[in-house]
Amino acid sequence: MQINRSLLAALSVSSAPMLAAAAPSQHVHARDASTYQANAETALDRLQTWYSEDSGLWTSYSNGWWQSANQLTTVIDMAQLGSSKAQQLAEHVVPNTFRQAAINNENREHTGRNPYINDYYDDMGWWAMAWIRAYDLTQNTTYLTTAEDLFNDMRYGWTTKCTPDGGLWWDKENTFIAPISNTLFIEVAGSLANRVAWRKDYYTMWARNAWNWLSTSVLYAADQHLLMGSIKASTCVQNERPDSFTYSHGALVGGLIELSSATGETKYTDEAHLVAGAVLDSMTKDGVLYEQNIDNEHPGESAPQFKGVFMRALSSLNAQSPKTEYKTLAQKSADSIWENDRDSEGNLGPDWNGPFFGSGNASPHSSAMDAIVFAWKASQ
Ligand SMILES: *[C@@H]1O[C@H](CO)[C@@H](O)[C@H](O)[C@H]1NC(C)=O
Repeated sequence: MQINRSLLAALSVSSAPMLAAAAPSQHVHARDASTYQANAETALDRLQTWYSEDSGLWTSYSNGWWQSANQLTTVIDMAQLGSSKAQQLAEHVVPNTFRQAAINNENREHTGRNPYINDYYDDMGWWAMAWIRAYDLTQNTTYLTTAEDLFNDMRYGWTTKCTPDGGLWWDKENTFIAPISNTLFIEVAGSLANRVAWRKDYYTMWARNAWNWLSTSVLYAADQHLLMGSIKASTCVQNERPDSFTYSHGALVGGLIELSSATGETKYTDEAHLVAGAVLDSMTKDGVLYEQNIDNEHPGESAPQFKGVFMRALSSLNAQSPKTEYKTLAQKSADSIWENDRDSEGNLGPDWNGPFFGSGNASPHSSAMDAIVFAWKASQ
């Protein structure tokens, strides 16, 4: 049984998160791009202390299967942004993880030929996105084909007993319908539409259908542009605690950008801005991105990864359609991480306002790196 599940761990955190102590007063000033790059590269050295050549994974709170897809994406983003240190590293880490992590997928024997297929549609979405980004970096079609194969498997989770008009299950056991697997499904389909020319119409149709379904479902508060809660299969009702996480909004923003590129329809970018704006309004503290569910001493295994996912997507949105407030969020978050949320060993922690808490590991660390990488890109 897997314990490091992204949704369950998130659902199991305290339903009444304590209010964090007031953040230390911050007089942070935006740095320049070269400083952000240097900080990201310093953090990259630290990240690699948790990388296992053997498993191809980075150690998080436990052996982080889905988190490692995100850590690989962070390395690839840095390589694409021109860090020669990250480029050198990616030359080794991308193929090593492709080979070694495949051997380590604990559910591999249940599912067969593609070792990145497992019983969780969100896990497959993370790996599909990581291999799509690996394809972007290397132009090696092995990675793109792997992502297509993952999408093909995800497709079989579409339509549920609670939502016969659409919607993707969270898992193959059919226990939940959650925003994250649906937003990742849109992002993977939209990304494939822009990269697999001969199946562009097919992937575009899936991305569009999945967004049409999600945008009118109970999981999306359309008036607020926020994703809420999940649907429990046993009752088919939305859970009583309609949490809103940064990462599902990140995958949605990423998906809408891809859908906009695939269709040429700006309404999807417009919606991406509305979603991003809603997150900036409701999930920041002192101008720094803030995840409610790690607002205590026991962050759970999953939530510390979430904020970075949103920052990566916002960076893409900002590159396509810049807004000053996005750049400001990136710089303020990156500056606060460096000044308030870093321990003496260089570990970056889960609450970007600080103070640092917990034991350093790849999950909060790489998530914080995503903010620094965004600040670097936005400051260029
Ligand atoms: C493409 O990637 C795969 C998987 O890492 C690797 O085995 C193969 O050698 C790569 N192909 C080229 C042309 O680099």
